[in-house]
Amino acid sequence: MSDLQKKHAGEAAAARVEPGMIVGLGTGSTAAWFVKALAARGLADLRCVPTSEATADLARELGLTLSTLEDTPRIDLTIDGADEVGPGLALIKGGGAALLREKLVWEASARCIVIADSAKVVKTLGAFPLPIEVVAFGHKTTANRIADVLADHEIAMPARLRQAERGIVRTDGGNVIYDARCGAIHDPVRLADDLKLITGVVEHGLFLDLADEAIIGLDSGVDVLHP
Ligand code: A5P
Repeated sequence: MSDLQKKHAGEAAAARVEPGMIVGLGTGSTAAWFVKALAARGLADLRCVPTSEATADLARELGLTLSTLEDTPRIDLTIDGADEVGPGLALIKGGGAALLREKLVWEASARCIVIADSAKVVKTLGAFPLPIEVVAFGHKTTANRIADVLADHEIAMPARLRQAERGIVRTDGGNVIYDARCGAIHDPVRLADDLKLITGVVEHGLFLDLADEAIIGLDSGVDVLHP
């Protein structure tokens, strides 16, 4: 993990934004570099839709004009980080627990650019635990059903409830997160579909066919990838 690489990716992404755009702001440390670089550009008439309360706080502090998905349902460009960037720009996201709002904003966007440091680029998704957002009511029952789906995908480890020092992690929407240690996800499309069919699963961190471009930060400059 390189902060310099994240900074390079965030700055290069900020250069893609044009005055007057409605911009989706991602969540996480890489997205924070983007938000800072975007604010520094001082572009006219931007409206920004944040994907988390943390990003909203940062953007507000930096003087960016905020909007919501309700007020601006069509977003021109979303720029966001990822935990893994796989072949075809299939992604794992949600390490920062913002996956539901992130996916809602990504899906409302005409174009999405993922930004990451070079260590995030992988040949097979799954070394990073896959976040699964679950309704808090009955979450242990839902976790049993997630375990069945994972077993069907030859993933033996049951997903673990995400905990922090202060107790169970809650998302901005009040849900909980289970992290599935998959090891390797051989069929991300089928796994994504199977997880979504479980009652109680709100969203998962597989972002498939959503990224139009990846800007990968290097120690000097960036690399640009396409699906
Ligand atoms: C937030 O829920 C995530 O999807 C982040 O975008 C992801 O975890 C990447 O975060 P970093 O940029 O901090 O690595």
